[in-house]
Amino acid sequence: MTSAAASLECVTARVPAKINLELLVGAPRPDGFHHLATVFQAVGLYDDVTVELAEEWGISIHGPYADLVPVDDSNLAMRAARLLARKAGIDIPVHITVDKDIPVAAGMAGGSADAAGALLACDALWGVWSPRTVLEDLAAKLGSDVPFALMGGTAMGSGRGDQLLPVLGRGRYTWVFVLSEFGLSTPTVYAECDRLRSNRRVPEPTASAAMMTALRSGDATSLGVALNNDLQPAAISLEPRLEEVLRTGMDNGALGGIVSGSGPTVAFLVSDIERSLDLAVALTASGVAPAVKRAVGPVRGAHIITAVPGHRGSFGSTGHPGPTGFRST
Ligand code: C5P
Repeated sequence: MTSAAASLECVTARVPAKINLELLVGAPRPDGFHHLATVFQAVGLYDDVTVELAEEWGISIHGPYADLVPVDDSNLAMRAARLLARKAGIDIPVHITVDKDIPVAAGMAGGSADAAGALLACDALWGVWSPRTVLEDLAAKLGSDVPFALMGGTAMGSGRGDQLLPVLGRGRYTWVFVLSEFGLSTPTVYAECDRLRSNRRVPEPTASAAMMTALRSGDATSLGVALNNDLQPAAISLEPRLEEVLRTGMDNGALGGIVSGSGPTVAFLVSDIERSLDLAVALTASGVAPAVKRAVGPVRGAHIITAVPGHRGSFGSTGHPGPTGFRST
C-alpha cells in the first residue's frame, strides 16, 4: 500500500444530475437487473464533492437534503473512494464533503453523482491519474448511473444503463423539475414495473427513431413529444399524485413532461427560460408542486473545479478550498 504524501491537499469535483429522455426497460434478468435502452441527459443541478487529506476516513453532507443521506461506509461517495483506494493500492485517508443540490431518491442519480465526483476527486488528490477507462470500469461497479455521471452531455445507455455512447445532438433544452416530499426506491419501482407487465411479453428495448430524430434536429417541440419512460406507469401506480403533477404541467404550456428515471421527480420541457419561469410559477400556484427547480441541459459530466496544493505535514481543515487552487470551470 502507498502512503506517500499526495501533492494536493484538497480537490473539489462538480457533478450534474441526470434525467432519462427515454427509458425503455426489458424483462428482468437473472441477476435482478433489467436490460435498458435509455437516453440520458445531464442537467445543470449539481453536487460538489470535496475530498481532503485527513487523519481518518469520514464524510459529511451539506445542503437541504443532508438529513436524508447516510454518513457511514454505505454512502456511495465513500464506497467510491474506498474502491479506488483498493484498486490503486492507496492508503491515504480522506474526508469527503458533499454540497448537495441534487434531490435525494428522486430519480436524478444524486447518489451516483456523488460516487462519480468522489472517484474523480480522489484520483486527482492521490495523484493516481487513472486512465479514463479505469474510472469508467470502477464507476460501473458502483452503480448503473455512475458512468453517465462521469460522462455527462447526452448519451445512449444500454446493458444496465452503464454502457454508453455519446449522442451528437443539437440544441440546449430548458427543464422545469417538480420535486416531491417523498422518495421512491429504485428497486421498488422496477419491481412494480415487472408486476404491471407480468401478463405480457416484454420486447428487447431499442431506442426509438423519434427520440434520435428529435435530438439530431435540436427541436424542443419534437423532443417533448418523444419523451418516454417505461417506469412512469410504475411510479404513478406507487404514487398516484404524480399523474396530477404531469397533467398540471402540460396544461400550463410544457412541451412535454415525464417522470425522471424511477421518480418521483417530474421533468417538464419548455421552449425557453421565460417559459420556465411561467411554468414554475403556475406549478407552485396550483399547489401540486412542493418544490420546483429549473435547469438547462445538456451540461458536461463530472469535472474538477478546484484543486488546492498540499502543505506537507498539515492535514486539511474541513473548510472549503480557497481561491489559491487552480480553477477549470
Ligand atoms: O445500479 P443501481 O445500484 O443504481 O441500481 C439500483 C437498483 O435498480 C438495482 O438494485 C435494481 O433493482 C434496479 N435496476 C434494474 N435494472 C437496471 C438498473 C437498476 O433493475 N438496469
